[in-house]
Amino acid sequence: MCGIVGYVGKQKAASIILEGLKRLEYRGYDSAGLCVLQDGRLDVAKKAGRVEVLAKEATRHRFNGTTGIGHTRWATHGGVTDANAHPHVSSDGHFALIHNGVIENYAQMKAFLSGKGYTFRSETDTEVLCNLIAYHYAKEPAGQNGTNRFLESVRKALDHVEGTYGIAVLCIDFPGEMVAARKASPLLVGVGDNEYILASDASALINRTQNVVYLKDGELVHVTPAGFTISTLDQMDVSPVVDRITWSVADAELGSHAHFMEKEIFEQPQALENTMRGRFSEDGSTANFGGLNLSATELRQIDRFMFCACGSAWHACLVAEHLIERYARLPVEVDYASEFRYRNSPLDRNTLFFVMSQSGETIDTLAALREAKRKGYRVLAINNVVGSSIAREADGGVYQHVGPEIGVASTKAFTSQLVLGAMLALYIARLRDMSFNDGVQYVNALKGAPELVRQTLRQAPLIKEIAQRYAKHADFLFLGRLSLFPIALEGALKLKEISYIHAEGYPAAEMKHGPIALITEKCPSVFFVPKGEIFNKIVSSMQEIKARKGKIIAIVTEGCELPPGLADEVIPIPDCHEAVLPIVATVPVQLLSYYIALALKCDVDKQRNLAKSVTVE
Ligand code: F6R
Repeated sequence: MCGIVGYVGKQKAASIILEGLKRLEYRGYDSAGLCVLQDGRLDVAKKAGRVEVLAKEATRHRFNGTTGIGHTRWATHGGVTDANAHPHVSSDGHFALIHNGVIENYAQMKAFLSGKGYTFRSETDTEVLCNLIAYHYAKEPAGQNGTNRFLESVRKALDHVEGTYGIAVLCIDFPGEMVAARKASPLLVGVGDNEYILASDASALINRTQNVVYLKDGELVHVTPAGFTISTLDQMDVSPVVDRITWSVADAELGSHAHFMEKEIFEQPQALENTMRGRFSEDGSTANFGGLNLSATELRQIDRFMFCACGSAWHACLVAEHLIERYARLPVEVDYASEFRYRNSPLDRNTLFFVMSQSGETIDTLAALREAKRKGYRVLAINNVVGSSIAREADGGVYQHVGPEIGVASTKAFTSQLVLGAMLALYIARLRDMSFNDGVQYVNALKGAPELVRQTLRQAPLIKEIAQRYAKHADFLFLGRLSLFPIALEGALKLKEISYIHAEGYPAAEMKHGPIALITEKCPSVFFVPKGEIFNKIVSSMQEIKARKGKIIAIVTEGCELPPGLADEVIPIPDCHEAVLPIVATVPVQLLSYYIALALKCDVDKQRNLAKSVTVE
């Protein structure tokens, strides 16, 4: 949440920052702003609204300077106004600051600073921090012991901060320099050709460099045109490690697609291939997970799994639960990370703890990881963003390798989490009771998943037509059983978040215990109807809806014969192995939500009130 860009180099900063902000807009789009240090002034342009509004505003300034910072905001403290947009400038005019996070003790600091004569133009916690830096700067007129006065003022101010932050700061007395720091909000430094770009995530700088340094919690970076140094809050020097981003600019661009969500839905066959690549054993009977850092003997001692995640990733964990319990015959518990961290739930000694997070920065999931580690558990992560906080703090794990996911609604990252959950179930099952032949069959099924997803994507024109017919309905139910119950939850979430239609996901048979009261001809139900043991049970649930004049959209595996007239709409999906079914069944609900949102003219990549990567509690 909130995107940060900073630039120190030889080019004009403003256009590079605006370009970076456009690429970061999915992290927040309530307001945007930039500040360039030029001609001895901090020149600020900021506006409520999208980056394009800022870009227009920027044309009214003469931005020539080569050092600057920019921000795209997801509002926490203070409404969506020009005044609350970042950057904020200290009341003495010395400092400009951008911030991602929440300063929890801002009220006390504000009272203290007001007493010292500092004034405030916004309602934000950020402006308080900016003035606190100015206060420490004024208090210590000279850099002591050869230290840099700018850097030390930021360090001192941060010493008093409770909360989370990714910040970048400019000081009027230090042209060509920038200080940035992080605690629980992501920040990385791109090392370019005679230039340094600071950003909340790599998509903002990938067009200028693939070489990056990921800052750790409690680290500050001091950037000058000559280079940069990293140190900790307690003044220890840190040797920077330069990593290389493996994806390219094209991965973070729309190409021929109308929206990132559409692009990412259609990229899924390739994304699944990338997730699985190199992760099957040579004999083709199991999965390989080198990154778990656990031997087969250690894994055999595990007698329970615990998964924590948020949102769509939590749904993916529910599918993993189903498959691990079914195939590996081990109990699994899945919890919302936000609940787990405060619930103090008892965990027994042989529990293996997993967190799942596309971004690797979701604050609740990170906090759950830390809580489990504090209790002495080894924590493994399933995560997409290389170098993220979760990836760094976990004891091991598996990267999803699906490239950047920019659409705010998770799509390709979700199905990749599903495939990794299925592979984990296979891996554990093969260490226990699953036979070689069953393993081979399972592996072959997973290898075939990309092609089945490709086939399902060919239903897009049919799904678009259905979406247009149903777009005006105000309520939807999504109903599925077993491993498709979490996909019902995911379908309901997708529809809610991108089209603002009220939708609920339920286990199909639970519907009789309350939600059936919602059924009228105005509340359609989306049913998942797979072949197999529960087919007849699902048909009975559909009959109960039909008897109450409810409309039915049925996602049906090929080869299933539904009673004539029972479903109003039928979307066929290929018949497949149980481990692959949730992946294939996800595609129609992604497309349905996408096309309904288009029919309603919703902004599918930037939904109301949402932002990618939830880095605040
Ligand atoms: C929904 C969605 C969110 C995320 C959730 C967790 O489409 O994208 O529900 O799944 O915020 O995000 P990560 O996986 O980054 O921890």
